[in-house]
Amino acid sequence: MLIDTYGRVATDLRVSLTDRCNLRCTYCMPEEGLQWLAKPDLLTDDEIVRLITLAVRDLGIDEVRFTGGEPLLRPGLPGIIERVAALTPRPRMSLTTNGIGLQRTAAALRDAGLDRVNVSLDTLRPEVFQALTRRKRHDDVLRGLEAARAAGLTPVKVNTVLMPGLNDDEAPDLLAWAIAHDYELRFIEQMPLDAQHGWKRDGMITAGDILTSLRTRFTLTAEDAEERGSAPAERWLVDGGPHRVGVIASVTRPFCRACDRTRLTADGQVRTCLFATEETDLRSALRSGAPDDEIARLWTTAMWGKKAGSGLDDPSFLQPERPMSAIGG
Ligand code: 5AD
Ligand code: SF4
Repeated sequence: MLIDTYGRVATDLRVSLTDRCNLRCTYCMPEEGLQWLAKPDLLTDDEIVRLITLAVRDLGIDEVRFTGGEPLLRPGLPGIIERVAALTPRPRMSLTTNGIGLQRTAAALRDAGLDRVNVSLDTLRPEVFQALTRRKRHDDVLRGLEAARAAGLTPVKVNTVLMPGLNDDEAPDLLAWAIAHDYELRFIEQMPLDAQHGWKRDGMITAGDILTSLRTRFTLTAEDAEERGSAPAERWLVDGGPHRVGVIASVTRPFCRACDRTRLTADGQVRTCLFATEETDLRSALRSGAPDDEIARLWTTAMWGKKAGSGLDDPSFLQPERPMSAIGG
């Protein structure tokens, strides 16, 4: 089991498949992109499958989420999903994507064994999309979303980050749109994980702001705390249901005490938290021929060192060296 000194147990593994991306969201990366990991530094498909296999078989992982960068840029993705789907017990599998290319791949990913997708979309306005992502791909994302629903990758969740002066007036429109299309919308507070270190607490749109804005048009009823479990999103029933909206308030209402995550970067480092400042190198162990039980031991030891929380609220908070795109969202 992956257990820490606070009694939390990790059952949800997030695997970053690449640090590259075909968008340049302003809250994530600079215009010119980043210094990408070199190919030899990335885990191979076989190495990824080996680590997931031992995590599922020996460490109690029952949910695997593929992230990036943009995970659809990884050519081996369908093969990885197919091999993970063949494991016993079979973990649930989801994918966090920007949606570009999903139109082409949704059906094949479903056939390979993927259960669900989370698609990032911050705006309904193409020109705002271009300002936020620096690319003209709004339409591709909308088509990708449709394809995901048609392929049965449901419930399709949509992740939205609101940025002041860009899309912070869109919360009610986005919710009306999501309900009409049967997508489950979740707003994520902007976190200090951008490569440019441009995040400012004063500038961010908070969960409180988002709820105030939504309540101008909808009646929201809080869901029971029990139903939330370890899910980071607090959810509200919209106009009495059945549709819901979620808010992931990582900054203003952190959920670290219920965290059930462990993370693997594309270059084979275990991170116990998005905001961790330390990593445990599984890649070197793999490549020096370590047996499964030794790798499992490295992973459980890393977990034992998991900090109580993100430290975001501490004045001494230091942003992690690696940006979100290199850690995995
Ligand atoms: N703060 C909050 N959310 C972010 N994402 C990327 N960078 C940040 C950030 N700094 C979102 C993406 C995607 C998910 C993986 O995280 O939009 O939906
Ligand atoms: Fe790409 Fe996601 Fe970063 Fe946007 S937030 S640039 S989609 S990795």
